[in-house]
Amino acid sequence: MAKKSIRDLNVESRKVLVRCDFNVPLDSDGQITDDTRIQGALPTIEHLVKAGARVILCSHLGRPDGERKAEFSLAPVAARLGELLGKEVAFADDCIGDAAASAANALGNGDVLLLENVRFHKEETANDPAFAAQLAALADAFVNDAFGTAHRAHASTAGVAEHLDDCAMGLLMERELKYLKDELASPAAPFVVILGGKKVSDKRHRRALRQSRHHPHRRRHAIRLPQGTGARHRR
Ligand code: 3PG
Repeated sequence: MAKKSIRDLNVESRKVLVRCDFNVPLDSDGQITDDTRIQGALPTIEHLVKAGARVILCSHLGRPDGERKAEFSLAPVAARLGELLGKEVAFADDCIGDAAASAANALGNGDVLLLENVRFHKEETANDPAFAAQLAALADAFVNDAFGTAHRAHASTAGVAEHLDDCAMGLLMERELKYLKDELASPAAPFVVILGGKKVSDKRHRRALRQSRHHPHRRRHAIRLPQGTGARHRR
């Protein structure tokens, strides 16, 4: 089934809610130790800014279990994103309610706002329809660019799309899906799969492993790195 891309959306002067995966590792001082995920979201954000959208970003960070915990605030991400974009990124203290709505309504064309951690509400991971509706009410269109969280059916990844007509994937999501479809369908030899990261055990990697085993050059085996080889997340 053809998937709608952000390129298909008319976004000028419209509020666009973008689900990113800003689940970055932080050290004990709350400093971001690896901003790869923020950098990965830049093409989508820059595309929207250039097109004159009013950009509302949301994400989770860590697993605060539905409680507001300062160490899981996305405020450091807003600051780093502002540096990378070279423009101010507004920050709202909550992802729903008055704080979020007034910050979203204050946006001009090309402005960027980051909402506080969606997982400060237990309704996020429960994919609560009323919570998803509140998120959706902030915007006119929805873009899912959170590839790293695409395996979670949460309110901000899946539920919100039930409440907005204009929904599309972002440029990061598009690139990753293209890679998974095209590159894994007929990979060139030699084909090596390297899996790693802190949470490698809950990632869907069966297809890649199967592909490597059935590849004509079978001596090329998949390598699975031991857990703990990835960046440390504060949990
Ligand atoms: C990840 O880091 O794997 C994603 O951001 C998803 O995070 P989660 O495993 O806490 O849902």
